[in-house]
Amino acid sequence: MPKTAKINASGHLEIGGRDLLDLAKEFGTPLYLLDEETIRGQCRTYVNSFREHYPNSEIIFASKALCAIGAAKVIASEGLGFDVSSGGELFTVLKAKADPRRIYFHGNNKSIKEIEEGLKAGVGRFVVDNQYELANLADAADRLGRDVSVLIRINPGIEAHTHEFIQTGRIDSKFGVPLDQLDDLVKEVGKRKRLKLAGFHAHIGSQIFDVEPFIAEAKLLVSLTRKYGTEELSLGGGIGIPYLSGEKAPDIPDFARKIAAEIGKTNAKLILEPGRSIVGLAGMTLYTVGAVRDIPGVRKYLIVDGGMSDNPRFILYQAKYEAFLARDPGGEKSETVTIGGRFCESGDLVIKDGLLPPAKVGDVLAIACTGAYNYSMASNYNRVPRPAMVMVGGGKAKIIVKREQYKDLIINDAD
Ligand SMILES: Cc1ncc(COP(=O)(O)O)c(C=O)c1O
Repeated sequence: MPKTAKINASGHLEIGGRDLLDLAKEFGTPLYLLDEETIRGQCRTYVNSFREHYPNSEIIFASKALCAIGAAKVIASEGLGFDVSSGGELFTVLKAKADPRRIYFHGNNKSIKEIEEGLKAGVGRFVVDNQYELANLADAADRLGRDVSVLIRINPGIEAHTHEFIQTGRIDSKFGVPLDQLDDLVKEVGKRKRLKLAGFHAHIGSQIFDVEPFIAEAKLLVSLTRKYGTEELSLGGGIGIPYLSGEKAPDIPDFARKIAAEIGKTNAKLILEPGRSIVGLAGMTLYTVGAVRDIPGVRKYLIVDGGMSDNPRFILYQAKYEAFLARDPGGEKSETVTIGGRFCESGDLVIKDGLLPPAKVGDVLAIACTGAYNYSMASNYNRVPRPAMVMVGGGKAKIIVKREQYKDLIINDAD
């Protein structure tokens, strides 16, 4: 739940001082909500924890988790830089007036056009994933006459305990330079006059609850920093968040203390790239129930007006969420229901076998923890326009992404 969530005097769920039923009426459903106070709070917890335990650190937001100008402005105003992994993310955060020197350009197959866009924008660091990209970057830097600092993304060979599709650091991965090829790549950087090796980057995966794999990753990056005499190291992102009540995510100050104890063995600058743990908890999605399908002895479905196109995380990796009835969030969760989406796929579910108080057609459901990897992974499947996104705080609600219209759907269709 966002930090500001509470049951108001009408008995309804509210966040940011706004009643969710009023928001559904005013902006329609499906609707993405973002609680500004939760985003700011998470940014401050990261910045202050690392400032306390390891002052030579920089927190950058992994914009892949949520990329929209309105959100980026809030995050930038809390002192975070940005990780971008495409020209589109770069374009968006630049529109939010992010400082280009604090942008780290990721991606495992940046096009030459994207590399040039990054160089022209003056991004602070390119994170290089492989030798082909390194050659393209070096050539583009020569052509444009720009000096570039690079981090090399390594494959640390560390298995984090999370879904296979969001593990990125094990040996069998499409990301990062295998350690036995690192010497060659470092030599290659040395040969190219416009490139400077700033250090190494790794990212072991996402939605990780266990701190041990991060410590193993930190130890490895420290050893590489010493071996190659580099000045920076980036641990990537990956800290998990509690999607379900009862789940316990790592405590960020404690994480900062433990990581600092490892990195403190160098003088290197530490970079962290949280995404999910900055915006995930801040988000809620509102849906309206449009149909109920009760199959006796089998399952009861509540069919809502959104689903896999605004939140593909169930269909991608059976991600789990919790739902609340906006008119009675504290009601006894006495029914087991499956929340099905409106899209033409049987796998289009939001929640399978979740608990809710009895709900009926017309009810507004609030799905918690949808701030990360929902909007940023949304599609127009079935040509359904994507929902609006509204930032709430201090009793106010501002649209930060407008609801798509049919005309937006055909904007690129050639007749
Ligand atoms: C390179 C990199 N950095 C940071 C992140 C952010 O991870 P998370 O949102 O789990 O913090 C990702 C996401 O997978 C990533 O690929």
